[in-house]
Amino acid sequence: MPELPPSPHHIAIVMDGNGRWAMRRGKPRSYGHQAGSEALKRTVEAVIRCDVPVLTVFAFSCENWRRPPTEVRKLLDLFLRALNKDVRELHEHGVRINFIGERSVFNPSLREGMAQAEQLTCGNQRLQLNVAVNYSGRADVVAAARRIAAAAATGNLAAEDLTEARLNEELTLAHLPPPDLFIRTGGEKRLSNFLLWQIAYTELHFSDVLWPDFGGDALEEALIDFAGRERRFGGLSRARSA
Ligand code: FPP
Repeated sequence: MPELPPSPHHIAIVMDGNGRWAMRRGKPRSYGHQAGSEALKRTVEAVIRCDVPVLTVFAFSCENWRRPPTEVRKLLDLFLRALNKDVRELHEHGVRINFIGERSVFNPSLREGMAQAEQLTCGNQRLQLNVAVNYSGRADVVAAARRIAAAAATGNLAAEDLTEARLNEELTLAHLPPPDLFIRTGGEKRLSNFLLWQIAYTELHFSDVLWPDFGGDALEEALIDFAGRERRFGGLSRARSA
C-alpha cells in the first residue's frame, strides 16, 4: 500500500501582509486588517476541511504596541467585533477557541469577550484555535522560568529535576503537541518572536501571498510543501540509515 503523505497535526501561522495589501488598494491599513479577519475565517474553514486538529495564529504581538495608536485601537476594535460577530459561527463549526498571551493589559470588554468565547467553545473538538494576542515567545519562556525559579526558591524543585519536559509544562501551549508546520505569509522570512520554544523542529513554509489573500489554495500549497519534507528530528534520513 502506498505511504500516505503526512499531514500536520498542528499548524502555526504568522498572518503578515495586511498593511501592504491595503496600501496597494489606496486604503488605510485597518482596511487590510479587516480583510485579514475574513482570511482567518476562510483559513479556519479550510483547516477544518483538511482535518488538521490544531491551529495557532499570531494576531497581535507584544511588539505591535509600537504601531501608531490609531492602528492599535482599530485592531483591538476589530478583535472585539470579531468576538461579538464570529464566535457563534466558529462554535457551530466545532471550534474550540483559546487565547494565549498576556491579556491583563486589555480593557474589560475585550477580556470579558475572550473569556466568554473560551467558555462557550471549551467542549468543542473539531479544531482547537489558539489566538495569540499580546503574545511574545520570549516573554512566555521568561514567565515559565520565573515560575520554575519560584518553585526552586521554595524548595519544590531541585536543579537536577529541571528537564525540557518540566520547563515545557510551564509554557502556554504545554498541553498540545508542538506545531509541525509554521506558515508565514507576506514574503518576509522571520519568526518574529512567535512560539520560539515550540518550533524547534517545526517545518517552515514562507509564502509571498499577503495574508488577506490567503485561503484554501495557499493552505493546500503549504500542505503539499510540508508533505514533501522529510522530518528527521536530528536523526538520519531513511535512505542514509538503511
Ligand atoms: C500583520 O500584518 C498583521 C497584524 C499585526 C494583525 C493580524 C490581525 C488579523 C489578521 C486580523 C484578524 C484577527 C482576528 C483575531 C480577528 P502587517 O500589518 O504587519 O502587514 P504589513 O507587513 O504589510 O505592514
